[in-house]
Amino acid sequence: EEDVYILAIESSCDETAAAVVKNGREILSNVISSQIALHTLYGGVVPEIASRKHIEKINQVVEAALLEAGMYLEDMDAIGVTYGPGLVGALLVGVAEAKAIAYAAGKPLVGVHHIEGHVSANFIEHPDLEPPFLCLIVSGGHTHLVIVKDYGEFEILGRTRDDAAGEAFDKVARAVGLGYPGGPKIDLAAKEGNPHAIKFPRAKVEGNIYDFSFSGLKSAVLNHINHANMMGEEIGVADLAASFQSAVVDVLVSHTVDAAKEYGFKKIAIAGGVASNSALRKGMGLACEKAGIAFYYPSPIYCTDNAAMIGTAAYYEYINGARAGWDLNAVPNLKL
Ligand code: KG4
Ligand code: ZN
Repeated sequence: EEDVYILAIESSCDETAAAVVKNGREILSNVISSQIALHTLYGGVVPEIASRKHIEKINQVVEAALLEAGMYLEDMDAIGVTYGPGLVGALLVGVAEAKAIAYAAGKPLVGVHHIEGHVSANFIEHPDLEPPFLCLIVSGGHTHLVIVKDYGEFEILGRTRDDAAGEAFDKVARAVGLGYPGGPKIDLAAKEGNPHAIKFPRAKVEGNIYDFSFSGLKSAVLNHINHANMMGEEIGVADLAASFQSAVVDVLVSHTVDAAKEYGFKKIAIAGGVASNSALRKGMGLACEKAGIAFYYPSPIYCTDNAAMIGTAAYYEYINGARAGWDLNAVPNLKL
């Protein structure tokens, strides 16, 4: 059989990324130009700045991805690109780039759902992992518990009713002055803290037992901070970070493992920026071990936004015959 090479592009938020992926799971290059330092100045991602940075960087990033792979555009079988969900101006840059390249080089174009990309990150380092399995996707914009029925085929079991998990990390970090992005900073601070120091609520939601809610927890943390400030008490950042983090992780782990048991899955994967969290990895790992479930997670570089995962997802879409038309557009609220 012929090898299949995909050039993939990702620009849905604040990383301009391109990658070359061979046969879906072999990463020949994975170039990421991060804008985090720029957005840190504003305490979060500023959409217009993100779009402008993408347009400035995109050609260099694509060129670097081809160079690093030691390949030319002509060698590619298809161009894959994230077309949603995400920031519309940011997505448009990647989509326009991919369309221009595909048109000029006479290559097929494949549109990729960003969340499908995050899920697919698990295929890169786990050659044995194949659907069906259960996947928890936790990032700055998304919190989804899904059954991966097949490549590109998902059933959503639960989702957040309000804040995404990563968003909660970012907001709590900002409130205690840890800065942006908050997830890694909370993770680090929590290592020095006691997760039982402060009793924060484990959110329950009405209706679907697999849905999530983090706004109540976020309010509880903010109330705790306000109360301490009012009483002139010092806020123990490490204890607060550890207690908040364990409240988030408890809910993520229990929902996921409960669902695996109910639906009879013996494989659980996690994905998205928050999948880098050390407490989540540890907690989910222990719970899976106890339940006799295999646990998969990507390396941190494949957890945050990257184009390698988009190339992997694009490969499976491509071999299943998916092709985007020249009218492909950015879809900011694209459904899974
Ligand atoms: O997947 P991602 O890079 O972008 C989105 O698609 O949203 O996720 C970014 C999110 C941010 O909210 C960031 O704070 C969070 O992932 N994050 C973490 C950790 N590393 C990144 N949250 C908790 N612990 C971490 N170690
Ligand atoms: Zn993402």
